[in-house]
Amino acid sequence: MPLLLNRKDVMQVLDMKDCMEVVEKAFAEMANGTAVLPLRINITPPSGLSLYMPAYLKELGALACKIVTIYKDNPKKHNMPVIVGKVLLQDPATGDVICIMDGGYLTAIRTGAASGVATKYLARKDSGQVTGIFGAGVQAKAQLWAVAEARKLSKALVFDISDEAVTAFISEMSGKLGIDVLKADSADQMLDQSDIICASTSSATPIFDGSKVKDGTHINGIGSHTPAARELDTNIIKRSTLIADSYEACLSEAGDVMIPIDEGAIDKSHMKAELGEVITGEKPARSNDSEITLFKSNGLAIQDVATAKLVFDKAVKAGIGTSVDI
Ligand SMILES: NC(=O)c1ccc[n+]([C@@H]2O[C@H](COP(=O)([O-])OP(=O)(O)OC[C@H]3O[C@@H](n4cnc5c(N)ncnc54)[C@H](O)[C@@H]3O)[C@@H](O)[C@H]2O)c1
Repeated sequence: MPLLLNRKDVMQVLDMKDCMEVVEKAFAEMANGTAVLPLRINITPPSGLSLYMPAYLKELGALACKIVTIYKDNPKKHNMPVIVGKVLLQDPATGDVICIMDGGYLTAIRTGAASGVATKYLARKDSGQVTGIFGAGVQAKAQLWAVAEARKLSKALVFDISDEAVTAFISEMSGKLGIDVLKADSADQMLDQSDIICASTSSATPIFDGSKVKDGTHINGIGSHTPAARELDTNIIKRSTLIADSYEACLSEAGDVMIPIDEGAIDKSHMKAELGEVITGEKPARSNDSEITLFKSNGLAIQDVATAKLVFDKAVKAGIGTSVDI
């Protein structure tokens, strides 16, 4: 009988540290050839966009598909969010769906987890670093949580065009992490003070001047993931050692990478590795303390599938959720 897990159930069992562990394994499986990751299928019904993200991870024994819909008129017409996501987890042995779970919180945590793993491998190793978070929304909170798992931070700064979002971010994240979380007055101020930066906004145009990023910075770029949108300017892409979540995703979905290629500023060889190749040691990570490293995340189904299996296993152990006979 499939287990139903609502958002509250998922939130109860899903922790960033555990999620980073399975997401790291998922990226390693991608590099080792034991992951099956078909391209995302997009369908456009008249009112919105429906995305199907399946994957299989042999070593983790995880098979699932996330369905995400983006319906802009949902709030106005149906009193529902714009983005809705659910994951269908299957038993790889029988193929049967064994769990249906909410995918909203899971998406934020798995996206944070990928940045946390990238930070663990790519950021400088010294402790007491400052992290600067661009954006104060749902993803931004998970980015800070993950970076704080990967490095011992002295403080965090946040910059957003919405003061309301910044206030809510500071109140929630300083309580959760027990570190100083402060408002940055400008993007430049944040670049000047930060060692690790997360670009996690909804902006479709560059959010900072790449020439002002300090040498030695690590950047996680997770926001824009359509060919025409970008958070990062050409300058910072050129200055960085660029690590992709997936070459294929970066070349088909990431304006951050595709626009500089179209401009002739870089070619695809500028992507030095996929994150999985860095994790397995196949490709080098940072080579010195003055290099700027940049992880471009588009969001892969392997992250959802590994996280969904983790959530299911923990929920079963804790006796959480409702079983239904379908
Ligand atoms: N890479 C991935 O796996 C992945 C996964 C999920 C979402 N995303 C992307 O992450 C981004 C953020 O999503 P979210 O759910 O947090 O959205 P959100 O609406 O909760 O937050 C976005 C925040 O960005 C702020 N913002 C917009 N333009 C800005 C600018 N120029 N400077 C500073 N702040 C600015 C907004 O005011 C808002 O507070 C979106 O682009 C989304 O598509 C990526």
